[in-house]
Amino acid sequence: MPTEFISLTSPNASNEINPIPNAGIDPDYLVRYARSLDDYDFNYTLVPYDSSYFDPFTVGATIAAATKKIKVIIALRPNTLYPTVAAKALATLDQLSRGRAVVHFVAGGNDAEQAKEGDFLNKEERYARLEEYIRILRRAWQSSDPFDWDGKYFQFKQFSNRVRPVNGTSIPVSVGGSSDDAYRVGGSLADIFGLWGEPLKETKEQIDRIYAEAEKAGRAPNDRPRIWVTFRPIVAETDDLAWAKAHRTLDILKGNRVNGLGKLPADAPTPQNVGSQRLLEIAARGEVQDRALWYPTVTATGARGASTALVGSYETVAESILDYVDLGAELISIRGYDNLNDAIDYGRYVLPRVREGLKERESRLKV
Ligand SMILES: Cc1cc2nc3c(=O)[nH]c(=O)nc-3n(C[C@H](O)[C@H](O)[C@H](O)COP(=O)(O)O)c2cc1C
Repeated sequence: MPTEFISLTSPNASNEINPIPNAGIDPDYLVRYARSLDDYDFNYTLVPYDSSYFDPFTVGATIAAATKKIKVIIALRPNTLYPTVAAKALATLDQLSRGRAVVHFVAGGNDAEQAKEGDFLNKEERYARLEEYIRILRRAWQSSDPFDWDGKYFQFKQFSNRVRPVNGTSIPVSVGGSSDDAYRVGGSLADIFGLWGEPLKETKEQIDRIYAEAEKAGRAPNDRPRIWVTFRPIVAETDDLAWAKAHRTLDILKGNRVNGLGKLPADAPTPQNVGSQRLLEIAARGEVQDRALWYPTVTATGARGASTALVGSYETVAESILDYVDLGAELISIRGYDNLNDAIDYGRYVLPRVREGLKERESRLKV
């Protein structure tokens, strides 16, 4: 399988270093952003989910209609949509986009956030429900006959589906998280497993855990989930310029949080999801890990979402990304802090260097 690149969808010009409170969707911006990703050969864009945020399905369909190649990853929490409805919605998007739909499942990492939309299950149960949900979707996409479901979380009778994924079997299913339950559900059922950017050693440990769960579930080595890792690169022409930019970015992030413009309030409690807890624990060990993985952005933002930076020249960041490819990561998510401009910079200066490095590796293998 090839190495592929992911970005995060920006529906408007608001971003973490220039937040525009209560910004609505800017349709022109959304289309320009999505087309830039397409033009610069990103392979996927993630449309995220949050209880207070835009509907990923309509945003995703808009992106698909405005682009030619990029695949649209819909973030989906199982508490928000009945599984038969989700199966049809995703397959509909897959047909509309000619096979470019992907789903990224979010079990739900925070009780209070889940409660906002009526979900009162604990985290263990949320993962058990996710497992049942994925099984229902796969069945709904594949079954040519009506079927009943009598599970712990969902029961229905004689569901019959005429809306199939383009490939006739399934759209790619991704699971993200860093808890034991995430490894188990994703390792056993997912096509893709999403991780946040951790140092090489810890990333390798997580990959081994995911693969062990895949093996336990009876999956062959050639059927393991593809690994997705996520970074927030801060790049410039030279390492020195990139570090100066990184410190400017950090000052802005800190100032925004103090002024109530951060993603989390300054006095936010410790996050409940293991992925964020791990980021904060590693941040306490030191600012820079490996070649260029930088953690102060994690601490400054309370590890809300993907927050580890890769800082350096285009070459340094490309080499850092290749370190993760060598470790087994196939999907590399890169999103900056000035989203559109950073995506263009990555497309011009980082992606070609990584792809060059991949070609060199391939030709070395052939010799
Ligand atoms: C790559 C990636 C993307 C994610 N996207 C979202 C998202 O769009 N919305 C969301 O609420 N959580 C998102 N998450 C968070 C986790 O999926 C979520 O917190 C998980 O249910 C619980 O995490 P845990 O298993 O680490 O405790 C994402 C996680 C990863 C790794």
